[in-house]
Amino acid sequence: ATPLMGATPPMGWNSWNHFFEKVTDADVRATADAMIANGMRDAGYVYVNIDDGWQGTRRADGSIQSNDRFPDMKALADYVHARGLKLGIYSSPGPRTCAKFEGSYGHEEQDARTYAAWGIDYLKYDLCSFGGMLSKAGNGDQSAPAAFALQQEAYRKMHDALLATGRPIVFSLCQYGMSSVWEWGPQVGGNLWRTTGDISDKYDRMSLIGFQQAGLARYAKPGQWNDPDMLEIGNGGMTLDEYKTHMSLWAILAAPLLAGNDLSKMKPEHLAILVNKDAIAIDQDPLGKQGDRVSAVGPYEVWSKPLAHGGMSIGLFNRGELAHPVTANLKELGISRKEHLRDVWAGKEMSYADMFTATVPKHGVVLLLIHP
Ligand code: DGJ
Repeated sequence: ATPLMGATPPMGWNSWNHFFEKVTDADVRATADAMIANGMRDAGYVYVNIDDGWQGTRRADGSIQSNDRFPDMKALADYVHARGLKLGIYSSPGPRTCAKFEGSYGHEEQDARTYAAWGIDYLKYDLCSFGGMLSKAGNGDQSAPAAFALQQEAYRKMHDALLATGRPIVFSLCQYGMSSVWEWGPQVGGNLWRTTGDISDKYDRMSLIGFQQAGLARYAKPGQWNDPDMLEIGNGGMTLDEYKTHMSLWAILAAPLLAGNDLSKMKPEHLAILVNKDAIAIDQDPLGKQGDRVSAVGPYEVWSKPLAHGGMSIGLFNRGELAHPVTANLKELGISRKEHLRDVWAGKEMSYADMFTATVPKHGVVLLLIHP
């Protein structure tokens, strides 16, 4: 893509994790209003992304229309833009989306032009029914060479169509991490690509996805991000310690931060996690280096992420069922006593130790921000 889209991991909100395919225009407007009122926009959350469920039928000329839950997409985009936010939309390279709405198959250029005319700024392109075509092409194997070529072609086609509109539109690939997408996502114009199947609002699923990202750091860079799926913070299925782990891990992973809860009804303690300045600064660090696992001793893991100012962020994670000390060898990580250590969630300065040990709650984290 010509302009550098997504120089830092995209931040915003997506409708799926809370509203699913029932999302409405009113929900999206309420979300935009909430993002302003609660400080999320000013903290960096700018994309308001409509996921599956907005599509209606095609007109006789083949152009896509929104359904009656979205009476006027252009007016909605204007509403969102007037508030300093950006609007995202969703489609599939297949004939049907996962929730059985119209996909873009055979209408790629036309749909891209429609999105641009509406004022869309972000497209999530979800494999869904195209998976069936891949199976067919690969004789049952979706990653067989013929299927693989078809998949790449489908994503490249939509990317080229978006580019041809002349409107900068972030392109988000969603095919659940198949065929090592991190190796070819950039070649088909992806600004981010899902690395896994769907997240859910449960610690086991969130942590499985998050900790599985070890080893993918080298594939991420400005404009090209690994996407371990959207946030579940505030949806109610995890404890505060677990949501802090979610936010910390996603920040260390330089993952997109797309809130997935009902922002008009959120608890202050969940908002506080989403807008924590240090966690956001770690995620959005301009160096654009994804972090990775440093060590794992049973359920006790240490992860680190290098930062532009020469410092780093370190996460001490406890995946176990009881509070337990976790130790990071700061000396080995190249940190000296001259550096400043900040405990992000406690919001306080810590003192240096070669072997830095903290008691970490069950499923919790101690997130350090270290700067020269
Ligand atoms: C599967 C994706 O992985 C989800 O994030 C969501 O977009 C649904 N499809 C929508 O049908």
